[in-house]
Amino acid sequence: NKKIIIAIDGFSSTGKSTIAKLLAKKYNYIYVDTGAMYRAVTLFAMNNNFVSKNHLDEKSLILNLKHISLTFQFNKDLGFAEMFLNATNVEKEIRTLEVSQLVSKVSAISEVRKKLVAEQQLMGKNSGIVMDGRDIGTVVFPNAELKLFMTASADKRATRRYKELIDRGDKVDFKDILFNVEERDRIDSTRKDSPLMKAEDAIEFDNSDMGITEQFERICALVDRKL
Ligand code: C5P
Repeated sequence: NKKIIIAIDGFSSTGKSTIAKLLAKKYNYIYVDTGAMYRAVTLFAMNNNFVSKNHLDEKSLILNLKHISLTFQFNKDLGFAEMFLNATNVEKEIRTLEVSQLVSKVSAISEVRKKLVAEQQLMGKNSGIVMDGRDIGTVVFPNAELKLFMTASADKRATRRYKELIDRGDKVDFKDILFNVEERDRIDSTRKDSPLMKAEDAIEFDNSDMGITEQFERICALVDRKL
């Protein structure tokens, strides 16, 4: 019974986590949402006034990285693991637009990436893992057996994210969400350390006009070929 590593990268709100969760359930794999880890570090930086709209105190954040402990705890009712920052459940707080607006600044810092990549590599050392993010196929697991790269039009992606936030009861403007989605992709793709890009051997999925069921079936066929 062979276990593999499935790496899913792509632009923001392309449905990476939806596919990843379905795969983890079907194959009984561990799912790791690496975006949640960068979001939790961003929340920590916000709470300590190391980052805001107009400033970033990189030095203080780097000095305090050792005080950040990130853990995932599986929630049976939800069917996935929730993010804990220093033993506090931050799953809800890390999904706000405010965190989304600051996370790309924080995730561009090399020392932050170094810490999180090391933790991610440790989680995947026994395989049987689905990990989604921006640099999984390129940096975290360059030897992953299956690499997917997800894309979709900015409008479709912003619509998805907007619905998610509205359904949670957040008051947000569609144009702010659209701007954030595009701005994050721009910063993530142009940063020096581990920019978002398709690994050479990744399979690209444009799901602008593809339903989740069809997409999942196609991806499962790819997984089955590797087992
Ligand atoms: O996946 P999600 O949209 O929650 O990711 C939030 C942000 O975290 C991304 O926009 C990116 O700046 C950062 N990130 C990253 N590398 C990863 C995962 C996320 O830089 N592997």
